[in-house]
Amino acid sequence: GITRNYKFDIKLQNITRLCQTKSIVTVNGKFPGPRIIAREGDRLLIKVVNHVRNNITLHWHGIRQLRSGWADGPAYITQCPIQTGQSYVYNYTITGQRGTLFWHAHISWLRATLYGPIVILPNKHVPYPFPQPFKEVPIIFGEWWKADTETVINQAMQTGSAPNVSDAYTINGLPGPLYNCSAKDTYRLKVKPGKTYLLRLINAALNDELFFSIANHTLTVVEADAVYIKPFKTQTVLLTPGQTTNVLLRTKSKTPNATFLIAARPYVSGPAAFDNSTTTGLLEYEKTAVTTTSTNKKLPVLKPVLPKLNDTSFSFKYNQKIRSLANSKFPANVPQTVNKNFFFTVGLGTTSCSQNQTCSGPNNTRLVASINNVSFVQPNIALLQAHFFKRSKGVFTTDFPTNPPFKFNYTGTPRNNTQVSNGTKVVVLPFNSAVELVLQDTSIIGAESHPLHLHGFNFFVVGMGFGNFDPKKDPTKYNLVDPAERNTVGVPSGGWVALRFRADNPGVWFMHCHLEVHTSWGLKMAWVVLDGKKPNQKLLPPPSDLPKC
Ligand code: C2O
Repeated sequence: GITRNYKFDIKLQNITRLCQTKSIVTVNGKFPGPRIIAREGDRLLIKVVNHVRNNITLHWHGIRQLRSGWADGPAYITQCPIQTGQSYVYNYTITGQRGTLFWHAHISWLRATLYGPIVILPNKHVPYPFPQPFKEVPIIFGEWWKADTETVINQAMQTGSAPNVSDAYTINGLPGPLYNCSAKDTYRLKVKPGKTYLLRLINAALNDELFFSIANHTLTVVEADAVYIKPFKTQTVLLTPGQTTNVLLRTKSKTPNATFLIAARPYVSGPAAFDNSTTTGLLEYEKTAVTTTSTNKKLPVLKPVLPKLNDTSFSFKYNQKIRSLANSKFPANVPQTVNKNFFFTVGLGTTSCSQNQTCSGPNNTRLVASINNVSFVQPNIALLQAHFFKRSKGVFTTDFPTNPPFKFNYTGTPRNNTQVSNGTKVVVLPFNSAVELVLQDTSIIGAESHPLHLHGFNFFVVGMGFGNFDPKKDPTKYNLVDPAERNTVGVPSGGWVALRFRADNPGVWFMHCHLEVHTSWGLKMAWVVLDGKKPNQKLLPPPSDLPKC
């Protein structure tokens, strides 16, 4: 591979959307941010210079960061933030990955405006395992607030209530004509007839899973989270925040007498308020000489049919279609046996309000979120530094529970959980542990799909189901042949998902719900993976420009 240099200047930029101008934090003044393009095996050197008042970190979502955890980016997990006037070079090599990923800010809610695509091409002369596309197009979904998003989350954290929902969804930063004064802010995908387009879809929204569809066109899904999959056809794609997928769009053989709406809107499984709006763009066929001269009539606009808002059964079926390219002769690299088992409950809860607080959560409480009833408390220095320099005392403890403190019927009438504990707790894994992790939605406050994201690894999705996970019966049905390999998975609403991965990447790796509001409430934890014995099984030392707290 080669070395590719990027310079990311973090600066403010005035952007007008929905008739209102606000100053947002951007990379190089661009919204959405610049695209990173590399080939597998390339090294990236991305110099980030912070010219704004906010503390900044950037994360390269889905990049494995083999032994290079210092470049991973989650604030206070792998690094202290880059402060005003400071800079930091993110230095990492892309190993064994090709496809679409994305980068985003990983501190507070700054990823609302700081995000952009990462395109990883296969090695030179290595073709795609699907028809060579005529053109490749990144399509990145986002969420827009008229208000300043840092104010939105800070207010919610002060009062313990849910933050205000967004005012629009966006396609490549543009809301589209269904929103006020946004007709000119419409994404247009211009195509020629009879060609194959590779759409690189990214859900960078903060708090909503999204359905995506193009009227009268079928999509072929070929890749998920930068891993090739067995192709399958669908009218609708579903992406949780943090998920990426590549689809092939075959255009009609002749320029049709219509334009086609591209639409995305949320899949909502939970009880919370949400932004119930739809972002649209246009799929426009290039006009031939004949059509421009012979018709002045406006073409009809065809609308796609999307699943209903709470279509959990669509979500479940869609996720089961995602299968790796492996087969029984060449099974996926999934651990066939495991030596570390974890059962984590994920969900919301409430906690009592202390005397000097005003709380406007349900019945005068504060909303919280937890894993195994532990709501994660952000430390003051980065966990990776504390681990590497063996100064964990007073920073984190290694007693993250392997099982929930109490069991209950996760699908029955939810018990009201006011017993959440707080702590900066981690799980320590010896190098090369074969890990099985079952994630169970608690349904407390309400059943809800939680898109869990793991840093530092891809995991295999070996099983999923509704109701309570049954440790006797369910493992007998695991798919250990061609499970999906990915970095973010939606825990089914009112159900569970079973994951396996090999802990062969030493470092400290964050795991959290990619619904940003749940991360803010504490639905997060970290894994500490110890060094192996061989020199190439050890975390590299920190770079000299690593920011200080
Ligand atoms: Cu895309 Cu920890 O994040």
